[in-house]
Amino acid sequence: MNRIDRLLAEMTLEEKIGQLSMLAAGFSVTGPVLGGDTTGDVRTGRAGSLLNVYGPEATRRIQRVAVEESRLAIPLLLGFDAVHGHRTVFPLPIGEAAAFDPDLWEETARASAAQAAADGVKLTFAPMIDIARDPRWGRIAESPGEDPLLASLFGEAKIRGFQGEDLHEAGSVAATAKHFVAYGAANAGRDYASTDLSERTLRETYLPPFVAAVDAGVAAVMPAFSDLAGVPLTADERLIGGWLRGEAGFEGVVISDYNAVAELVVHGVAADPAEAAALALRAGVDIDMMSHCYRDGLPEALDRGLVSLPEIERSVRRVLALKERLGLFETPHAADRPQPGTPSPDALRELAREAAVRSIVLLEHRGDVLPLDARPQRIAMVGPLADARAEMLGCWSGAGDSASAVSFFEGLALARPDCDIRLSPGVGIRDGDESGIAAALDLCAGSDVVLLCLGESRDMSGEAASRSDLDLPGIQRRFAEAVLALGKPMIVLLSAGRPLCVPWLAERADALLMTWFLGHEAGNAVADILTGRRSPTGRLPVSWPRTVGQVPLFYAERPTGRPASAEHYTSKYIDGPTAPLYPFGHGLTYGRFRLGAVVAEPADAREGDMLTVTIELTNEGPLAGEETVFLFVRKPVSRVSRARLEMKGFGKLALASGETGRLTLVLPVEALRFLDAALRPAIEHGAYELLVGPSADRARLVSYWIEVGAA
Ligand code: BGC
Repeated sequence: MNRIDRLLAEMTLEEKIGQLSMLAAGFSVTGPVLGGDTTGDVRTGRAGSLLNVYGPEATRRIQRVAVEESRLAIPLLLGFDAVHGHRTVFPLPIGEAAAFDPDLWEETARASAAQAAADGVKLTFAPMIDIARDPRWGRIAESPGEDPLLASLFGEAKIRGFQGEDLHEAGSVAATAKHFVAYGAANAGRDYASTDLSERTLRETYLPPFVAAVDAGVAAVMPAFSDLAGVPLTADERLIGGWLRGEAGFEGVVISDYNAVAELVVHGVAADPAEAAALALRAGVDIDMMSHCYRDGLPEALDRGLVSLPEIERSVRRVLALKERLGLFETPHAADRPQPGTPSPDALRELAREAAVRSIVLLEHRGDVLPLDARPQRIAMVGPLADARAEMLGCWSGAGDSASAVSFFEGLALARPDCDIRLSPGVGIRDGDESGIAAALDLCAGSDVVLLCLGESRDMSGEAASRSDLDLPGIQRRFAEAVLALGKPMIVLLSAGRPLCVPWLAERADALLMTWFLGHEAGNAVADILTGRRSPTGRLPVSWPRTVGQVPLFYAERPTGRPASAEHYTSKYIDGPTAPLYPFGHGLTYGRFRLGAVVAEPADAREGDMLTVTIELTNEGPLAGEETVFLFVRKPVSRVSRARLEMKGFGKLALASGETGRLTLVLPVEALRFLDAALRPAIEHGAYELLVGPSADRARLVSYWIEVGAA
């Protein structure tokens, strides 16, 4: 008899349900603390997993209770949100997505996994692969942006990084793809709100990242809090049982979101905890995170015939199988495993700096204000984010310590000791206190260049942080306008977990850099860009609206029968532009790139072929730079109206000043597959337009036509 069969044969019903129950630790100033009688629940086998316990001592202590004091000695599964770092904090996911660099995404996940595992954690609730097209939704900060291919590549890379070759490895943790599915399509951008989508949009846009995650071998999936067309995902048998486990072939563990099983009652689909537990379990949710519904409701649900014992046991098997895959039965104390691959603290800071540099997006650049003059200068740093260490960590600081973050002021002061750099915040992030404005304006007036550091606080994005207005908070706009009126060379650093609607600022700044929340090395990374030690390479993973009224906004819209024009009866706004302030993919570099010839081969392609697209690029600017080139496709005539552009790939090429080079992107004809009128995957034959260029701005794309025929 194998271990799982043997354990199942010995377990009481309470112990079985215990394996399906995840409890949480709380936090005190010194770290995680176990409240209530969690330790007792572990001892009696009523809790099979815990979240938020980390640190070698704390995890060893509680794991010892499980393996030495509980009747069946089953180790605990210990989970933690390493969403953008663990001890070392990397940029917000939306920032790191801007790097368009799967190797980097994998490397930062690998580093987070090593740190989490050294802290006794073997499961993380990441990656979040929700498509986000509405910046009102605060969780856009945690997402890789608006595009399904980008989210798929991001998720795959993160899963490879977290899980490594084998979950048994010391530096690996089980990854959780979340939130399944369409959580980001919340009504009006309000977190946790209802969603309603066509089957086509679900399958074309929201499910592909989960297909990629399952194919990458993700160990766990977390259903979203929200409902889709009336069915809360936590109870969605069609999507969890049917699509995820059936169609996509997922064999891992489904873990509910925090208290989501109990919330089925509030959603209005279950009358009591027993019904809620039965709905979730039957849909395929194996672990109840924190709602106690499985523990309190499943025995009654069993008595009432709402669930069967084999259904409970099926989930117990999955949980035990994951514990086996993680090697917990052999080495329950994950922190005790030799950690050969753990990067050194210096290497981690270096990686955090690299990730932060690659996440920064240069949105505007007029004249030659950047890089900063090499001669010593008087630099004024103003605005509430200029010297704000703790803010730099962003919405999920993991187990990171904000005291060791580097602020923009600290980073630049270190990089340019020859300059006279002075600080005066002027205003707070959200408050209306005007008392500091005069001093900040004085400082700016006496300086050669001004760094204006504006934005949101770190807690204004992330979970439960939706906004109905996307302007700068507090009185920052008034302050910024007063600073701009001085007419000094002006570099704006914008920190936020989402695009902010600041066209007035974009028009007047000499340079505008999107710095998201860049993590521990924020200040050093920004200094690298400002001083020209590095050239900016980040590109927007989301379309950036001018006004909140434009959202949801994304480049892959379907064409309308009445494209916007000067004619009255066309698809547009009568009070402002329809185009975004910045398109998806936008981002400037210190180089000046010209796109030359584009050639795709074979131009007469067959199903099964591999297309090679070669793009010639010249850097005509005086400085070196790295350009990112996107490959989009368009099928102008199809039985189903298709998106005006669909991203199919991207690549990067670094060129010195005056240099010409070639970038080659490979596109399997298979990638042209789409869902036909009956939602069946098909490749339509005929003419396709390939569009290549620096962003999704149609006017800047070079087009190349190919024909696709039968094999
Ligand atoms: C969030 C999840 C997270 C979980 C555990 C929930 O509130 O929605 O993304 O993994 O908490 O911290």
